[in-house]
Amino acid sequence: MTLYSRVRPLAFTLPAETAHELGKRTLRAAQSTWPTRQALRAAYRYEHPALEVDLFGTRFPNPVGVAAGFDKNAEVTHALEALGFGFVEIGTVTPYPQAGNERPRLFRLREDEGMINRMGFNGHGMESVKERLEADGTPRIPLGVNVGKMNASNEREAVEDYRRVFVRLAPFADYVVVNVSCPNTPDEFDEASPEHLRTIFETLEAENEWDVPILVKIGPDEPEEAVLDLVDIVQEFGLDGIVATNTSTSREGLESPNREEWGGLSGKPIADRSTDVIRTIAAYTDGELPIVGVGGVDSAESAYAKIRAGASLVQLYTGFVYQGPTTAKRINRGLVALLERDGFDSIEAAVGADLE
Ligand SMILES: Cc1cc2nc3c(=O)[nH]c(=O)nc-3n(C[C@H](O)[C@H](O)[C@H](O)COP(=O)(O)O)c2cc1C
Repeated sequence: MTLYSRVRPLAFTLPAETAHELGKRTLRAAQSTWPTRQALRAAYRYEHPALEVDLFGTRFPNPVGVAAGFDKNAEVTHALEALGFGFVEIGTVTPYPQAGNERPRLFRLREDEGMINRMGFNGHGMESVKERLEADGTPRIPLGVNVGKMNASNEREAVEDYRRVFVRLAPFADYVVVNVSCPNTPDEFDEASPEHLRTIFETLEAENEWDVPILVKIGPDEPEEAVLDLVDIVQEFGLDGIVATNTSTSREGLESPNREEWGGLSGKPIADRSTDVIRTIAAYTDGELPIVGVGGVDSAESAYAKIRAGASLVQLYTGFVYQGPTTAKRINRGLVALLERDGFDSIEAAVGADLE
């Protein structure tokens, strides 16, 4: 029995967002001194050469990262590193602070091991995130920055929002993600329309004096043609990869009473759908376009399924909530065992294995 399996029932009596805030406060305290950070590292980090991934000109110590939304404001990146993750994606960061939707806006679906959220891009805004990254320093692991727009922005203003956050935070980033797939922000226009995407990518490429890799994050609910259209645009602009996927508006097969809540569904219920999207992209691009796989990863097996479908890296949020601080270590250990079982000498050798 892990400590978290004893703490979790208690944490789960709290509203989901309160528990999340409490968890983050604990992590922030834990990362604030060198000895506590070292103690976490000793307990939770797991290193193995087979887990290392070279991507985007950066070395990832392992392929298991924290997905956007967990640390929107870059408050606990060092603690997440100490807990054994291979990279952290902060954000979504918007140009100005934003309150997001009214609470409650985050719901556990325990029976389904999922969550529904309609946070609505709550966050401290880019200036505050920049100051924190300067004060705390960036973590020892690669840092992704997920950029977004203000909820009230129209199509033209949205492009300027992405541009501003990009210019402000790209100097800290090992990669940047353009998030055009949030299902719970009130948009008056189609964020994923080809014309809009072209304008965004053109604008960011023109500003990219740091040559930071730029990826785009897509949702799991698009029909295959729309996914492939997006891949065409990504390749047309020479972008560096795709993060697949964001949360879903589907409610298929759910048991929990909270399934009636509106917002984006995450966790186990979207795992297979998200893996299908990864496989579609990898097959269409012959494995040439890097994919960061996310959606329902909570074990070595679920991470490995995404890697074999074509993901070079994976991320998780909901799995971390259900599995606690040992999540990254367990997954990484398990991945090494799965690689050995299947005769691969590295994660990189297993990427896309199911496509052949
Ligand atoms: C509470 C919550 C907030 C999230 N916020 C963001 C966000 O700000 N930007 C983003 O791109 N994705 C956001 N996501 C989506 C996750 O990054 C991820 O794509 C999705 O949850 C699927 O992964 P999971 O099943 O491991 O949670 C959020 C997810 C949750 C649960």
